[in-house]
Amino acid sequence: MTWTVILPLLLLLTPAFTVDKGNFKTCKDARFCRRQREPRIDYYIHELLVDTVKLDSSKTALTATVKNIKSNDELLLEIHGFEDRTFRIRLNELRPLRKRYEVDISIDKLPKAAPMDLQQQSGQLQLNFPNKLHLNLIYNPFRVDIYDDGTLLTSLNSQSLLLIEPMRTKPGFVPNSDKSAADDQQTEDAAGDWESQTDEHRPEIVANDTDEQQEAEAKNDEPWEETFKGHVDSKPYGPNSIGLDVTFFGFENVYGLPEHADSFRLRSTKDTDPYRLYNLDVFEYELNSPMALYGAIPFMIAHNERSTIGMYWNNAAETWVDVDYGFISSAGTLFGGSSTPKTDTHWFSETGIIDVFFFLGPKPADVSRQFTGLVGRPYLPPFVTLGYHQCRWNYNDEKDVATVHENFDRYDIPVDFIWLDIEYTDGKRYFTWDTPKFPHPVEMINNLTAKGRNLIVISDPHIKKDDNYFIFKEMLDRGLYVKTKDGKDYEGWCWPGASYYPDFLNPATCEYYANLYSRESFDKIWTWNDMNEPSVFNGPEITMLKDIQHIGGLEHREVHNLYGILHTKATYEGHLKRADNKVRPFILTRSFFTGSQRYTAVWTGDNAAEWGHLKASNPMILSLGIAGMTFAGADVGGFFKNPETQLLVRWYQAGAFQPFFRAHAHIDTRRREPWLFDEQSMLLIRDSIRARYTFLPFWYTLFFEASQTGLPMMRPLWYEFPEDQNTFAMDDEYLLGDALLVKPVTDENTKTLNVYFPGTSAETWHDITTLAIHKGGSKSQIDTPMNKIPVFQRGGTIMPRRFRVRRSAILSIEDPITLSIALNDTGDAQGSLYLDDGISREHLDGNYFSIKLHLKNNILSSRVVHSASAYKTKVWLERIYLAGFKFKPSSIELNELFSGQKKVLEFFYDDKHHVLTIRKPGVNMSKEWRMIFRA
Ligand code: NOJ
Repeated sequence: MTWTVILPLLLLLTPAFTVDKGNFKTCKDARFCRRQREPRIDYYIHELLVDTVKLDSSKTALTATVKNIKSNDELLLEIHGFEDRTFRIRLNELRPLRKRYEVDISIDKLPKAAPMDLQQQSGQLQLNFPNKLHLNLIYNPFRVDIYDDGTLLTSLNSQSLLLIEPMRTKPGFVPNSDKSAADDQQTEDAAGDWESQTDEHRPEIVANDTDEQQEAEAKNDEPWEETFKGHVDSKPYGPNSIGLDVTFFGFENVYGLPEHADSFRLRSTKDTDPYRLYNLDVFEYELNSPMALYGAIPFMIAHNERSTIGMYWNNAAETWVDVDYGFISSAGTLFGGSSTPKTDTHWFSETGIIDVFFFLGPKPADVSRQFTGLVGRPYLPPFVTLGYHQCRWNYNDEKDVATVHENFDRYDIPVDFIWLDIEYTDGKRYFTWDTPKFPHPVEMINNLTAKGRNLIVISDPHIKKDDNYFIFKEMLDRGLYVKTKDGKDYEGWCWPGASYYPDFLNPATCEYYANLYSRESFDKIWTWNDMNEPSVFNGPEITMLKDIQHIGGLEHREVHNLYGILHTKATYEGHLKRADNKVRPFILTRSFFTGSQRYTAVWTGDNAAEWGHLKASNPMILSLGIAGMTFAGADVGGFFKNPETQLLVRWYQAGAFQPFFRAHAHIDTRRREPWLFDEQSMLLIRDSIRARYTFLPFWYTLFFEASQTGLPMMRPLWYEFPEDQNTFAMDDEYLLGDALLVKPVTDENTKTLNVYFPGTSAETWHDITTLAIHKGGSKSQIDTPMNKIPVFQRGGTIMPRRFRVRRSAILSIEDPITLSIALNDTGDAQGSLYLDDGISREHLDGNYFSIKLHLKNNILSSRVVHSASAYKTKVWLERIYLAGFKFKPSSIELNELFSGQKKVLEFFYDDKHHVLTIRKPGVNMSKEWRMIFRA
């Protein structure tokens, strides 16, 4: 074959979908990353000054001075102990030239402080806390060791990488906040009126480096300025990054740090860049990469078969984290052997303070409770949002919306939401409608809600620069936009062309913005907040310049990763306000930070219709879940490119078992609503969506549990089987709650799949379709024809489901429940059910039912653990399936405990599969009852 033949073939094989890496910084490009990562060891040695140690009067906070023995720079160390095995360790410059930013939006509630007791030892101070926990402060070189019952778990600064670069002020620099307001003057941007409709038309936004620029960048090591691709970042306070090493002893698996398109278990970054946390709009992101994406949660979990610990780095500036797995050298070992594993991590941020929390578990569920106790539990979303969402960029007009809505009925497919992307607006002016295409939005919304469905529209943060656009004008007049370093309103480009960016750090901005959601035709629909990293097409790395100013002279670099959470918080408050605090908000966001789960759901952004992206959705959602962002999903079908039918079907099957279930597609892709495929594929898609709806009571119960405990609905296997080492690196199968094991098909033409069943051999797993039983601790090959979704119910669990097919979730909310019970080896099972009105916030006042179900000694009983005073439910028990039931009962009797009524029930026993089916117990689910199975 000649090259003229081969070359076009190669081109065909080359995937068109590739991130333009040149648009984004590597560690080498981010000077502080380079400095922190290449330590000059003598520069770093610190000593704790013993005479400075102070314990406050309540004995809950210790302070001391730590000195860099080379530079003499002094740091303030603070140590706080809390109840529930939580510690906080802070390090800041003792006398910073300017107050360093301290992140507080991430903290929902500090746990109750726990007193400590000090014990002087030679060369160190021991801090004793309740529960056999203690910290050792080693004076020189300075180090903090954390022990649980005498076992060293974690060490801070054991590699002497602690570094806080002291702030300086550029000679002649006058902070913007000190300048007179008279200096503030608008400038016209030379860019003019730029219009963009699609990504295809995204301009070549980042200037290519000229030779001179490259030269300047290469030389650019002086402290006051840094350039990247022609963008100059002024640094009036000089380099002031912070860094610290943290070692986890005895651990060889760490997880977390969303958001990355990477494996769930974090990889070693020894030979790559560190994991980067800097919220960015990464066009065509790549898989298996530590590159930054849209959101950031600097939270990590270390796990081994004995314990689980969490660590949270409370900093919202650009952050990088190195991970290195290794072994404790026999010389310095505390464990007496060189085979003890350890994980070294190194965290560094561009600015701010070192503010680290540790959560000592000891089990995964404890860490989830401890972490979300601090940063906030996920809020309970409206019931209907757990259903299926139909989105695309774009449904073009009212007729299009109506047709899509009708087709769901025609093909008998349930759906709860139809979504409108940016084209519904009048020229990308959010909170307006393109009236020729959407002349009657209120009627359109009412037509949907009349049939039990809802509308969601997008609302991005950038505001079109247009004097005739009321929002632009009003925010301008009130001074609510972020400013350039010279105090002018900052202008960047996004979908509308020239745009201004609200300063959500300013409470007045949030209040103004929140009120927009009360505008007629927007006041009853829910919201999709996109592009909120923020995305700035002509900015460095497609975002805002770091020297942009927020209220009070805050530099954008200090708060960059907060833009998304602040945007969604304002939206959340707007939703609450317009409904007098009575209705639960629903928001989907692309950008997020620690604590965002208090306000929003999240999706994994612009993936592609490729098998690899389908596969990546599982580890990505698992990482989000353990970091508190439990309501998460990926675009079903893939955003870019056209999925082939098999991929689309498999994606629906996977998405139906992930927390947020929405199909979405790029404007340039072919239409792909389920009925546009061959009948068989349409039916398979329909089956997956319907399967989702049968599990809604179970999902809702899990969402409630998450709102109480922080436990993710979608869990890694080791969350429930912490001792099962086979599960530690697994991210292609997962659990929903403690009851369902899911291993979605994520490879093309998969005929069989090897499924690992966790736990000991006492554990049983019931295939929900074939009813085959698999033993824990073993692998089985499962047939996966196109209609198979590999899902297994754990023996010993009771799951509430609903089997009546409805048009949407709201229409099913009062439908009767079916209990799917899978018995364990000893014939026992347990589960729970949560019921409320699905939409109001009355559950916060206790208006809900929480029901526990137990099967033991052939008696199934229902106990109401929380009962509502004002909410009544009509939900009743329609059917019970018991899988693994060993004998055919002679009779089954139902006793209603309150009324004393008794009833003999009809049943059917399948002795081949050992499945007992009980028809129509008929009891109201809010009542307590016992069901007796007589031999
Ligand atoms: C980027 C988002 O990630 C995508 O989902 C959306 O369709 C486009 N913006 C247009 O709004």
